[in-house]
Amino acid sequence: KSAITYVDGEAGVLLYRGYPIEELAQHSSYLEVAHLLMFGELPTPQQYTEFQATVHFHNLLHAQVLSFYHGFRRDAHPMAVMVGVVGALSAFYHDVMDIRNQQQRLIAGIRLIAKMPAIAAASYTYSIGRPQRYPNNTLDYASNLLQMLFGLPSSEYTVDPVLARAMDRILILHADHEQNASTSTVRLAASSGANPFACISAGIASLWGPAHGGANEQVLKMLMEIGRPENIPKTIARAKDKNDSFRLMGFGHRIYKNFDPRSRVIQESAKEVLAHFGHANDPLLEVAVELEQIALKDEYFVERKLYPNVDFYSGIVLRAMGLPMNMFTAIFAVARTAGWVSHWLELHQDASHGIDRPRQLYVGHTLRHYPIKK
Ligand code: ACO
Repeated sequence: KSAITYVDGEAGVLLYRGYPIEELAQHSSYLEVAHLLMFGELPTPQQYTEFQATVHFHNLLHAQVLSFYHGFRRDAHPMAVMVGVVGALSAFYHDVMDIRNQQQRLIAGIRLIAKMPAIAAASYTYSIGRPQRYPNNTLDYASNLLQMLFGLPSSEYTVDPVLARAMDRILILHADHEQNASTSTVRLAASSGANPFACISAGIASLWGPAHGGANEQVLKMLMEIGRPENIPKTIARAKDKNDSFRLMGFGHRIYKNFDPRSRVIQESAKEVLAHFGHANDPLLEVAVELEQIALKDEYFVERKLYPNVDFYSGIVLRAMGLPMNMFTAIFAVARTAGWVSHWLELHQDASHGIDRPRQLYVGHTLRHYPIKK
């Protein structure tokens, strides 16, 4: 049972605490949405100010945490680094953490939301050998993430409002999606009473897979394989061929059969970002735009209701922002932290919730005996 997020795949509805995702993406901000998911209500102006101040108070990484990064190869996948670093935070906050204490649970949740942008940004800056910038508390959550990703320590970073809006939308759209694989992983780990940082690290591991958060990376890999617009018809033909296992990545969804409400919103962001930067110099973005147009008109895709999903557009937006492919899922992890934390809090609010144990359908041998040598 959960009171956080409602999804109706047939009707294409996604509600956070009752509010439609489209309205939140249009009018809200990620931190406001994080408050909504965690506490069940949108914050009043005063609550928002207090919540933001608490997030700012906790958004620095302990200097010793930054030293962990040096233990990783510089070409390590950012998700591998994040699994390690977030898990390691449990060693920092274990002794002061009593999960039966509501106030301590809230602080742990806010710490995670607050520190995740710096953790993700550092996994990128370390890989390219650039010093990590500190959080800037004069900026909103999305802008702060951008300045830590792209800013140089030696100069001022001016936040581009189009990019900040697009990043904020990506964060809002990916903040929660009820009992998906990573959220279920967090809840299962939480049910044993495990440390919250360890639980979220388990969620990041689950998110990493290409069938879950890793899909946006696969979309870009596919676009790279296509390479040029003239190769699109060949790719579409492969996707339609029943004897070929190839599928058009970023098209179709397990739950949403009419449309994914998130993809409409992010399509707008993609248009805004592409118009802002232009994509004349990026053949991949040119391929993406043309692929979308061709597939939307193709009978095979129309008949089967295979529309571009949120991953198709989020990959395009993140690429246009200048992020490398392997950071796409890391940004998803930053966004989903609000959802994971809210589910972790919800589970612990119910003091009677015992350890979860999925039931097994045993399909092995019946009783047999060890052959005793005579
Ligand atoms: N390309 C080509 N054909 C497809 C695609 C696709 N991307 N997706 C589905 N189909 C076809 C199937 O071959 C099948 O055709 P048939 O009826 O002639 O046999 C029909 O559409 C229905 O497909 P199913 O596999 O039954 O649909 P399901 O709901 O199980 O799969 C899924 C959904 C896994 C997302 C699928 O559409 C897919 O593989 N898409 C590509 C991967 C992708 O983008 N994943 C990200 C999902 S979004 C997210 O996780 C946030």
